Amino acid sequence: MSESFIPTLQKCALQIQELLKATPTHYLDSTNASGDQQLGVDVKADCLIEKELLDLEFVCGICSEEKSEAILRDQGTFLVAYDPLDGSSIIDANLSVGSIFGFYAGAFAADKLIGAAYIIYGPRLEIVFASTTLIRYTYHRGKWEQAPLSMLQKKGKINAPGGTQKHWSPSHKKLIDSLFDEGYRLRYSGGMVPDLHHILIKGGGLFSYPQTSDSPKGKLRKLFEVFPFAFIYEKAGGAAIDGKRRLLELEIQSLHESTPCFFGSVSEIQKVKESYE
Ligand code: AHG
Ligand code: MN
Ligand code: MN
Repeated sequence: MSESFIPTLQKCALQIQELLKATPTHYLDSTNASGDQQLGVDVKADCLIEKELLDLEFVCGICSEEKSEAILRDQGTFLVAYDPLDGSSIIDANLSVGSIFGFYAGAFAADKLIGAAYIIYGPRLEIVFASTTLIRYTYHRGKWEQAPLSMLQKKGKINAPGGTQKHWSPSHKKLIDSLFDEGYRLRYSGGMVPDLHHILIKGGGLFSYPQTSDSPKGKLRKLFEVFPFAFIYEKAGGAAIDGKRRLLELEIQSLHESTPCFFGSVSEIQKVKESYE
């Protein structure tokens, strides 16, 4: 059961929060498999999570946004794909950042996903974990406590549109404008974890990261960012698509592959489908 990961997630959350407080936000000379320049904290958070996951006897393999290849071994049953630090480009501005995890049985493929989680490092430390159910934990006075988390409403009020606007397609621009015309409010920090957490906590809305003329396959990576959040949003009663298809039905050719993605309440996702069909 992927619930067995919860104590490890809680341990990683506390350690990475300390790491973020103690580490300067300097860039290294290295880049990761997606071509992003790495920060010292990206690499340190990656090593820390790697160590904690490989200490678990039921883990048979891991891969991360910061590793070019997966690490596989002859023991255990679960695979974990993770983004050790999401939001590297906003960390110098002291905005909230996160870590994202997908738990797989047998293969790194959307239909083998059995659980997903994220940690958010904000003014409070929180974890949202999804398997058959959805649980939210907050760290309060030295203890992890369960916190309330409601299902997404059918329709929300938040619009979080990602990607460089001058590279959007005219039809995507029309979709985003139509939401603003309906009264949706802009909420976009540039960190997928706080932006999607915001929509979840407020009960609905739309987060989009479309294909653009400079990134035809979008920016966000299937294994490390997109599949885990698609799983969480579906468990919360929302929906997650690439414009046309359910994200959790997409196949995967390589570990670092990206896809356009839309996460939200059912009403906003229906609008996206109509605009992209
Ligand atoms: P990472 O820091 O792991 O590379 O990911 C950053 C991602 C995600 O958090 C966010 O939604 C997106 O990049 C923001 O991209 P733009 O700056 O293009 O909006
Ligand atoms: Mn990321
Ligand atoms: Mn990252």
